[in-house]
Formats: sequence, structure tokens, C-alpha cells
Amino acid sequence: MVQFSLAIVAAIIAPVASSVQITVESSGGNATTPHQYGFLHEDISNSGDGGLYAELIRNRAFQSSERFPADLSGWSPVNGASLSLKTLDQPLSSALKTSMNVAVGSSKGQVGFSNDGYWGMDVKKKKTYTGSFWVRGAYEGTFTASLRSNITGEVFGSTKLRSRAKASEWIEHSFKLVPTKSAPNSNNTFTLTFDAAGVKDGSLDFNLISLFPPTYKGRKNGLRVDLAEAIEGFHPTLLRIPGGNMLEGYTNKTWWNWKETIGPLKDRPGYPNVWGYQQTNGLGLMEYLELAEDMNLEIVLAVYAGLSLNGDITPQDKLQPFIDDALDQIEFVSGDATTKWGSVRAKLGHPAPFKLRYVEVGNEDWLAGGTAGWESYKEYRFPMFLKAINAKYPAIQVISSGSVFDGYNIPAPGNGDYHIYGTPDAMVDQFDLFDQTPITHIIGEAAAVHPNGGSGWDGGLMDYPFWIGTVGEAVSLLGYERNTDRIIGAAYAPIIRSLDRWQWAVTMIQFAADPALTTKSTSWYVWELFAGHLMTHTLPASSNFNPLYYVTGKNEDKGTYIFKGAVYNSTDAADVPVSLTFEGVKPGTKAELTILTGPANPYGYNDPFTGVNVVKTTREKITAGKRGSFDFSLPNLSVAVLETVPSKHPKRNTMRNGLRN
Ligand SMILES: *[C@@H]1O[C@H](CO)[C@@H](O)[C@H](O)[C@H]1NC(C)=O
Ligand SMILES: *[C@@H]1O[C@H](CO)[C@@H](O)[C@H](O)[C@H]1NC(C)=O
Ligand SMILES: *[C@@H]1O[C@H](CO)[C@@H](O)[C@H](O)[C@H]1NC(C)=O
Ligand SMILES: *[C@@H]1O[C@H](CO)[C@@H](O)[C@H](O)[C@H]1NC(C)=O
Ligand SMILES: *[C@@H]1O[C@H](CO)[C@@H](O)[C@H](O)[C@H]1NC(C)=O
Ligand SMILES: *[C@@H]1O[C@H](CO)[C@@H](O)[C@H](O)[C@H]1NC(C)=O
Repeated sequence: MVQFSLAIVAAIIAPVASSVQITVESSGGNATTPHQYGFLHEDISNSGDGGLYAELIRNRAFQSSERFPADLSGWSPVNGASLSLKTLDQPLSSALKTSMNVAVGSSKGQVGFSNDGYWGMDVKKKKTYTGSFWVRGAYEGTFTASLRSNITGEVFGSTKLRSRAKASEWIEHSFKLVPTKSAPNSNNTFTLTFDAAGVKDGSLDFNLISLFPPTYKGRKNGLRVDLAEAIEGFHPTLLRIPGGNMLEGYTNKTWWNWKETIGPLKDRPGYPNVWGYQQTNGLGLMEYLELAEDMNLEIVLAVYAGLSLNGDITPQDKLQPFIDDALDQIEFVSGDATTKWGSVRAKLGHPAPFKLRYVEVGNEDWLAGGTAGWESYKEYRFPMFLKAINAKYPAIQVISSGSVFDGYNIPAPGNGDYHIYGTPDAMVDQFDLFDQTPITHIIGEAAAVHPNGGSGWDGGLMDYPFWIGTVGEAVSLLGYERNTDRIIGAAYAPIIRSLDRWQWAVTMIQFAADPALTTKSTSWYVWELFAGHLMTHTLPASSNFNPLYYVTGKNEDKGTYIFKGAVYNSTDAADVPVSLTFEGVKPGTKAELTILTGPANPYGYNDPFTGVNVVKTTREKITAGKRGSFDFSLPNLSVAVLETVPSKHPKRNTMRNGLRN
């Protein structure tokens, strides 16, 4: 009865009878570091080699492993040369034992080889391509390096360099190449030729043949510019490295041994990538750290924890070497230059330690080794790592690779990691999942990947991020951010994939050799919107969720109030009117309202091959009315952010410094 009369009163005073009334208190929320939006990177779907790692030459050093024997893929002879793999008594290095022998035979004139890259190469005029190769064998004359069409043979740019090659010695040659013409498509090759007549002993040996376009921030051995910028463009603040399954490896002899990923390229043997191809490890630990530095990302560093994908489990009495290795790795990243591994990092050009607050032990330890693997993790693997890391690095937050929802009673002071690859509905169910959890978690991998009603990796995987799934992700992100006192942040995974060879379809960004195909998915737009409006504090609000989900707060640095929301499945697909009041915000206050809506088909997606963006962004200035409320409407399946225009005297605090280096 009482409730009935209150309802009538509310209906009379409400500006729009059916609108969702949200009243945001001016204090009482969580003062904390801002919620983090980030991503996981490992080399899956050529997201590393042939992707973010800018190297253009595929199979540049004939790297191999038991699982992936050396081959000549990517390479073709030019003008009758014969190419063969050799394991010489005098290899280029102990890491790179196999090289390519180029025999001249009876050919006359220019002979050599070409490489057609990772499904082609982008060639643009006036850009400087930086190349190098090692050669062994007596040759007098010049080498000609060129970029040319694989279809017509047209040369877009070439350069000559004088040979310094000698018999029985590996000599590095470097060059720069600036095309005078842009190629009309990406079906191009890199070609290296030499004069058959100048070769003394019938053949030359080559290894580590490399060519880089200009890289992100101009880093040597760096990243592909358009892909790095697409990632940076969604304003991430968090990077979880190095994977994922890649960290674990196929067996306990072939886990991602970070010590084999640092230093000169000729000392990196490569790695049997767990997604079906040999990996160069050109994108190694140092490159990941530089990426984090260049994009101002907080690092979540994963260390190998004695479990591999084949179910190999390290027994307790053999675990210590792996713990020592993890401590070395932490020292390499964060130790000062006087420490053993900090000095190795300093010698590699980075004397200043990287900031490191989070270390994760293993990856999904509840999965690969079955019950035995998980039990060993709970019984001794995680506790031993936790103890050892905290003994040496008390300030580091150690994260277990499982969550309380995996039935793990995580020992203090450990944190959890929770992964979700779900249907849109399952993502929406995430909204209140962490409301009661007593332990801090990271959402180390998240993405909507199945259609509603679908599940299982072989049946219901979507081809790309899709609008209703993206809205589901938005709802999950709102839930995580509401609980930012106990959630470190969320990482989209996997972040990018090649359209030419992939093992996992749903990624935030897709690409091919041709940068015109680089595509921001529907999810990119939503993560960009949320990450672009960081809060320093959440603020409590009246809660009345479904179909509108939201989080409210403020950014004290900017002096703004913020609302983030999403509508999922409104009644009869009707718009949801909202009346939003921030306590203390005066009538006449201005705000910017951004609303993202999708295509008519909720399963619509951004197709790289048509280039059509199905996400519609509307941005408008709105003003708080007489009662101080912002009144607006949100359509079914929409995502929105409202942020008040900054006040003149924002309070200064250390939000950025708190979050970043
Ligand atoms: C943090 O904020 C959330 C959402 O407002 C709330 O549920 C939670 O109790 C808050 N935690 C603390 C410690 O204030
Ligand atoms: C150009 O390269 C693309 C990507 O590898 C390939 O699909 C296409 O068939 C190639 N075209 C020609 C004419 O070789
Ligand atoms: C280059 O041409 C060869 C021979 O036609 C073909 O097999 C290869 O796929 C082509 N590569 C690209 C990137 O177009
Ligand atoms: C590797 O895994 C096997 C089980 O498959 C185990 O017997 C062996 O002790 C492990 N070795 C190390 C060093 O972890
Ligand atoms: C939301 O709508 C979609 C599309 O009509 C449907 O598949 C899904 O089951 C609905 N979910 C809920 C929770 O109502
Ligand atoms: C919301 O809109 C989507 C797309 O138009 C539709 O599929 C869905 O059924 C709508 N939800 C409800 C509950 O009507």
C-alpha cells in the first residue's frame, strides 16, 4: 500500500512518466585508480609476425623447431638460381643454424631470390624501407635490393650496395630503399640479386634477410604503424603479455622462454608458436615493454608456471628453476641497472626500469592439465610463486590465472584472473557478477564471440565482432567499472588478426598486408568510447537496471561528471528515456552526450572487404534543465557516454601519475 502511493507521487513529479530516473550522489563511491581498459597480445592469427611486428620478410632466418622443420616458404629463385637450405659447420649463430644457399648454376647476369612477405607487402613511395642481410661466400660486385610487383614485375624502388662478402665469414650488409612509385596493390616482393659472374665458388649463403617499413615511433625492430595506431586509438591503459597459450607452449621444453626473445635478432632462435606456425620472436619481451612504454600502458606480466598445453606438469621438486626464471624476468623488467638482469636490460638500451605492479602466474591453469594441472596449481605451484615473488617484491600484486568462479579460494594476498568468451546474453550477465567477490580480479580476456543460443568453439563462433555482442560487452564493462575497487581492468582478447591466416576469428581489429584492409570492429568503437572517458571515482547512483545498465562517477582531474550506459533489449525495442541528475550539478550545466547505435540486423558487423562501418556515432551538447537533470533518450541496443563540460577550476590530483609511468 505504502509502495503504491509512493509510486503515484513519483509518477506525478517525474518529467517523463516512464523515464529512468538516475540520481547520482556527490560522494561515497570508490576513490581508486581509474578502471583500466586494455588488451592481451600474443602471436595468434599472425598478430605478431606479419602483423603488429613490422618485419616484411616472411621466414627471414629459416628458424625451425621439432614441430616446424625449416623450409623455404616465402622464397623464390630469380633467374634460374637454385635455393636450398643448409646447416653449415659455420652457421650465422648458434641460434640461427640453418641458412639459404643460392647457387648460380649456368645462369648469366643478375641472379638471386625474392620473398613475397606475409601474403604480400605494402609498398609506398617516398617511405624509407630499412633492410639488412648476412651473406657468406666470395663475391665481388654489387647487390641490388628492390621492391617489385609479384604480378607484373614492375620495380617500384631499388638500391645497389657494394659487396663486402668474403669466403668463410658471415658479413652483415645494410641498406635503405626508398620507392619512387607506390604499388597499386600489396602483391609485391622484395628481391635481392647479384651478378652471377662475380661469384667465386658457385654459390652464396644468406641468412637473416630483413626489411622494415617505417615503424611506430621510429623504433628499430619496431611495430607496424597503422596497426599500432589503431590499437592506441582506443586509448588502452593496460597490456597483458606475453599471452595466453603462447606463454605455456606445447610442452614443458617449449614454453615461451623470455630469455630467448631478447638481444640481437641473430641470437633469437625463434619459437614453436602454439597456433600452428614457427614464430621469429622478433617481437620479444623488450619489444613488448617498449610498446607499453610508447602507448603508456600498465603491464600485466605473465610468468611461466610449470604447465604446458600438452598437460605437462612440473612436479613440486622441479619447480624452483621456473620460479628463479620468473624472478629473473621481473628483475629484467623492473630491476635497476645495477641488478644482474636490470643490467642486461640497460645494455639493450633501456637503463631505466619499467614500472611493474602486476605479475600473473601462468595462464588458465584450470584448463590445459585437466584436474591434475589445476590441483597442482592450487596445491603448490601458485603458492610457491606467490611466496617467492612477494618475498622479493612486496609491492607487486601477484595474480593467479584462475578466479573465484573457477572454484579457487585464492590465497592472500593473491588476486584472480577471470576470462569470458560469451554470447551477448552471457556478457550482459557479467554486469553484477563481481558485486560480491571478496578478492580483486583482472578480467584478463574478454569478448563476445558466440551468437545468442550458440556455444562451443566448433559451432557458434562469429566471423567478426558483431553489434549485439558488442553491446553485451559494453554491459559487462559497465559492471566491471562499477566494481573498480575490486577489478583492476578488462583486456580485450585477442586484439588483432590477419585476414590471410587466422586461428581465431573475433578480434577487435583485422588486417592484411594492404593497410586499406585494416578494420576497426564494432567493439573497437565501444571500447574507445568507454576508455576515452576515464573516471577517477565512481559515484553511487539509484539503481534500477535492465534494460538500461550504467555506471556513474567523476573525473576529478578534469572536474567532470560522467555517465556511461548501454541499453540491451528494451521492451518492444522502444527507446529508453533517461533523466539523469548529479547532486551538486546546477541547472544550465552543459554536457556532451555520445550515443553509438548499430545496424538493423543486431548481428551486423564491420566487414573489412566492404569497408562499411555499421556503428553510427551521434554527439550532441545537452544542458541540464530547471531541476538540474539531463534528459535524453537511448535507443534499444545502444551505448552512450555523457560527460559534463569541464569546470574552470578542476581539482588537480595524480590520476595520470597514479596510473602511468
Ligand atoms: C564501490 O562501488 C560500488 C558501486 O558503486 C559499490 O557496490 C561498492 O560497494 C563500492 N565499494 C566500496 C569499498 O566503497
Ligand atoms: C594478391 O594477393 C592476395 C593476398 O595474398 C591474393 O588473394 C590474390 O590472389 C593475389 N592476386 C594476384 C593476382 O596474385
Ligand atoms: C606471388 O606469385 C607467386 C607465383 O605466382 C604466387 O604463388 C604467390 O602467391 C604470389 N604472392 C603474392 C603475395 O601475391
Ligand atoms: C615435464 O613434464 C613431464 C610430464 O609430462 C614431467 O614428468 C617432467 O618432470 C616435467 N619437467 C619439467 C622440468 O617440468
Ligand atoms: C535479446 O534479444 C536478442 C535478439 O532478439 C535475443 O537473441 C536474446 O535472447 C535476448 N536476450 C534477452 C536476455 O532478452
Ligand atoms: C532490441 O533491438 C534488437 C535489434 O533491433 C532486436 O533484435 C531485439 O529483439 C530488441 N529487443 C527487444 C527486447 O525487443
